[in-house]
Amino acid sequence: MGALVLTGVEKKFDGAVACSGIDLAIDEGEFFTFLGPSGCGKTTILRLIAGFLTPGKGSIYLGEREITHLEAEKRGVGMVFQNYALFPFLTVYENIAYGLKLQKRPGREVRSTVGRYMEMVGLSGFEKRGISELSGGEQQRVALARSLVTEPRVLLLDEPLSNLDARLRDKMRLEIKSLQKTLGITTIFVTHDQTEALTLSDRIAVFDKGRCEQVGTPQELYSHPANAFVAGFLGDTNLFEAAVEHGMAHLSSGIALRLPPPCKRGRFVSVRPQDISLAMTDPGGPNTFKGTLEETQMNGAWVEHVVAVKGLIFRAISLNTMEHRLGLNPGDDLFLSIPERGITLLDR
Ligand SMILES: Nc1ncnc2c1ncn2[C@@H]1O[C@H](COP(=O)(O)OP(=O)(O)O)[C@@H](O)[C@H]1O
Ligand SMILES: [Mg+2]
Repeated sequence: MGALVLTGVEKKFDGAVACSGIDLAIDEGEFFTFLGPSGCGKTTILRLIAGFLTPGKGSIYLGEREITHLEAEKRGVGMVFQNYALFPFLTVYENIAYGLKLQKRPGREVRSTVGRYMEMVGLSGFEKRGISELSGGEQQRVALARSLVTEPRVLLLDEPLSNLDARLRDKMRLEIKSLQKTLGITTIFVTHDQTEALTLSDRIAVFDKGRCEQVGTPQELYSHPANAFVAGFLGDTNLFEAAVEHGMAHLSSGIALRLPPPCKRGRFVSVRPQDISLAMTDPGGPNTFKGTLEETQMNGAWVEHVVAVKGLIFRAISLNTMEHRLGLNPGDDLFLSIPERGITLLDR
C-alpha cells in the first residue's frame, strides 16, 4: 500500500464537479507532482488531502489509516498555500512556531525545533522580522519552515514557485528538491508548469477538467502520452488528426506518413518538434516532404523553424550548431523529414 492513497475521490461545489474518479497511490518518500491547467482541480485535491474539505465520494488513506473525515490538525499533513497564507501580525519566528505551540510542545523543544528548521531554509537571523518586511522568496521560506516544523508525514506544496521571478524560481526549485531529498518526506507538488514537473518529479499525474488523465515518470509521460491532451501539455508537439490504414497515417491535404510497425490505430498523430529534421536538398527516404519556411525563431542554444507543407504547419526544433544552421529566409523551399520512430499515434 502507498504512503498516501486516494480511491474514487470526488468533490462537487454546488453541483459542479471540481474533481472526480481520482485514484492515486503515492509512495513513501516520493516527489509526486500534480500537473494541469488552472481550474482542473489540483488545489481542491490538496485541500481534500489536508482535511480542509471533505469529499462527496471516495476515501483517503495515510498509510494504513483512513483519514477521509479526520480533522486537519490530526492528519500529519503539512501544506504550503499558493499565497503562503502567513500571519501578517506575527513575526517570522512566531509564524514558524505556530503549529508547535498549538500542539503545546514544551518551550525548549519549540525553540530548538524552530531554530533547526529556520537554519534549514536559510532564515537564521530573521526571527524578529515582520512578514511585510520580507521579500517573496523569504516569505516562501517562512511558509516552508512553518509547514515542516511539525514534522508531517506528507508535505503539500500548492504552486510554491508561481509568485517568484524567474531567477528566484530556479533557485527555489533546486532548494525545494534538495530539502525534500534530505528530509525524505513524501511530497505532492502542484504546478501548471511542465518544466517544473519534468525536472523535479519522481512521478507526475496530469489533470484536465477534474480528471486524472495519466500517471507516470516524466520520461514515460513524455515518450508515451496516453492521449493528445497529455502529449500537448507535457512538452510541445505537432498534433494532427489522421486517418490510419495499412500502416499509413493520412493527414489532411494529402500528406501520408509511413508508420512504424507494428500497425496501430489512432485518431491523432503526434510528432515532437526535435524529431523533425530539415534540409536544403532532398535527403530522400520515406516521410520526406517539400515545404516552405514560414518563420525562424532563434532562442540562443536552439532554433525553431515553422514550416508549411501542403497547408499544414509543422514546428521543428534543432540545436543552433554550425552543422544545423540552415541559412534560409522565410519563403525559401526546404525538405522536412519525419523518422517513423518519431511518430506517436493517439486515440483521443
Ligand atoms: N470553494 C469553492 N467553491 C466553489 N467552487 C470552487 C471552490 N474551490 C474550487 N472551486 C471550483 O472547482 C474547480 C477546480 O478548482 P481548483 O481546485 O482551485 O483548480 P486548480 O487548483 O487546478 O486551479 C474550479 O472550477 C473552481 O472554480
Ligand atoms: Mg490551484
